[in-house]
Amino acid sequence: MSTDAPEEQSPYGSGSRAQDPPAAASAAPSPRKVRIPHLHAMKVEGRRWAMLTAYDMYAAQIFDEAGIPVLLVGDSAGNNVYGYETTVPVTLDEMIPLVRAVSSAARRALVVADLPFGSYGGSVEQGFASAVRLMKEGLAHAVKLEGGTAMVPLVKTLTDAGIPVMAHVGFTPQSEHQLGGYRVQGRGDAADALVDEARALQDAGAFAVVLEMVPAPVAERVTEVLSIPTIGIGAGNGTDAQVLVWSDFAGLRSGKAPRFVKKYADLRGTLLGAARAYAADVESGAFPDAEHSFES
Ligand code: KIV
Repeated sequence: MSTDAPEEQSPYGSGSRAQDPPAAASAAPSPRKVRIPHLHAMKVEGRRWAMLTAYDMYAAQIFDEAGIPVLLVGDSAGNNVYGYETTVPVTLDEMIPLVRAVSSAARRALVVADLPFGSYGGSVEQGFASAVRLMKEGLAHAVKLEGGTAMVPLVKTLTDAGIPVMAHVGFTPQSEHQLGGYRVQGRGDAADALVDEARALQDAGAFAVVLEMVPAPVAERVTEVLSIPTIGIGAGNGTDAQVLVWSDFAGLRSGKAPRFVKKYADLRGTLLGAARAYAADVESGAFPDAEHSFES
């Protein structure tokens, strides 16, 4: 994977191409498509960026319009769309329609699709076939997979075949039963192994690596060692990028969120209020009123 700067400028820079609007005309990001070389250029330039999950058209459109450069159709759809307790039950057939909705809605964001548990761990052939489905049927621009050095042969095969791969190490939710629950990874003596894993995935061709629930100093070390972007979630402030699950950051979930989640909105409260007001209006006869009815 080349980390050379793209021929075009970074989509977040003060672009100088003729079709770009004058810098002062709008603070909105340009509509050019985000490509992997842009992400690599941002690392070189020391510019941080945000990734969000999305599972449907409206979320994808809104985050795309907000200038989020990378949208992840995560297998966190298991907990956030399908109502499962973990990501383990999610199938490729359940992922594909979500990926297609997000890819079709996003105008400029790079759309990365998660390979779900059981769709790639059996063999390189299985992983290749699954990734091809995400690209051809889901219209994804890249795939993400969980795991360390054991994933190196698959990452090589996919990237050799033109399928960009985002790696994911540290706490890997698909292995939660193996790991003994939600636990910080890479503490103490395990730090060196985590750095080596991330490096091996980079060398195999991964274009970026997610670091989940990793001590901040270890994530910082990985970020320094790698030439590809690191994307942290529960990994402190020293990574090149951050990712949050959208239903967490927008306050849609009920109950206690993990410590690393920051709530930027209270959509649950907003929707609760709206649903209650609507029900009350229907019950009282206030809705529909003349404004929302047709005359003869
Ligand atoms: O599935 C997902 O949403 C993820 C992110 C939390 C990194 O893997």
